[in-house]
Amino acid sequence: MRIDILAVVPELLESPLQHSIMKRAQDKGLFEVVVHDLRKYGVGKQRKLDDYQYGGGAGMVMMIEPVANCIEQLQKERTYDHIIYMTPDGKRFDQSDANYLSLQENLILLCGHYKGVDERIREHFVTKEISIGDYVLSGGELAATVVVDAIGRLLPGVLNDETSALSDSFQDNLLAPPVYTRPADYNGWKVPDILLSGNDGKISEWREDMAYKRTQERRPDLLED
Ligand code: ADE
Repeated sequence: MRIDILAVVPELLESPLQHSIMKRAQDKGLFEVVVHDLRKYGVGKQRKLDDYQYGGGAGMVMMIEPVANCIEQLQKERTYDHIIYMTPDGKRFDQSDANYLSLQENLILLCGHYKGVDERIREHFVTKEISIGDYVLSGGELAATVVVDAIGRLLPGVLNDETSALSDSFQDNLLAPPVYTRPADYNGWKVPDILLSGNDGKISEWREDMAYKRTQERRPDLLED
């Protein structure tokens, strides 16, 4: 799978993509993430990316030309399944979106900046709009790293059995149960006996019960879905 990220501040994407599981996935050739600096497509000598909005009002708008030129260049090289605009007024991202996107071949993520991108980019190029939550970030780059991480860890071969994505919270609309490791007794704070019992059936049952209980307490809305 390949993801092209179009960014105004590409530096913001560097660290999250170059460490840990994301790095391993790219090193193994399971996942290719290519970051494009939109400034290279900027207009004129100044490589301008933004301009005043028609009709007046505070805040600059991302211009069409740099974004359109970058997207069109990429489209000459391959076909994209989706061109996704990262924006606070997009669809709220969740695990089912991550599952769906992880099955695609080629994606473009466009990171918004300033007051947002000229609406005509959204009308003529963008096929999906994603928000990572009801708050406004200074740009779409950090949101894009969240989406890339959530997708990348689902690709076959990226995680090993122990970190399998199947037991993650949200995969079956349930939060994950509590987990413990050694020591079994820390200053009198004990690990539940059942987890030390060696009885796999009982342990599975306990985990399911705890996942359900935790979901009911913290996120009852998930059980309604
Ligand atoms: N850009 C700014 N805020 C954002 C958000 N909450 N989600 C996605 N992109 C954004």
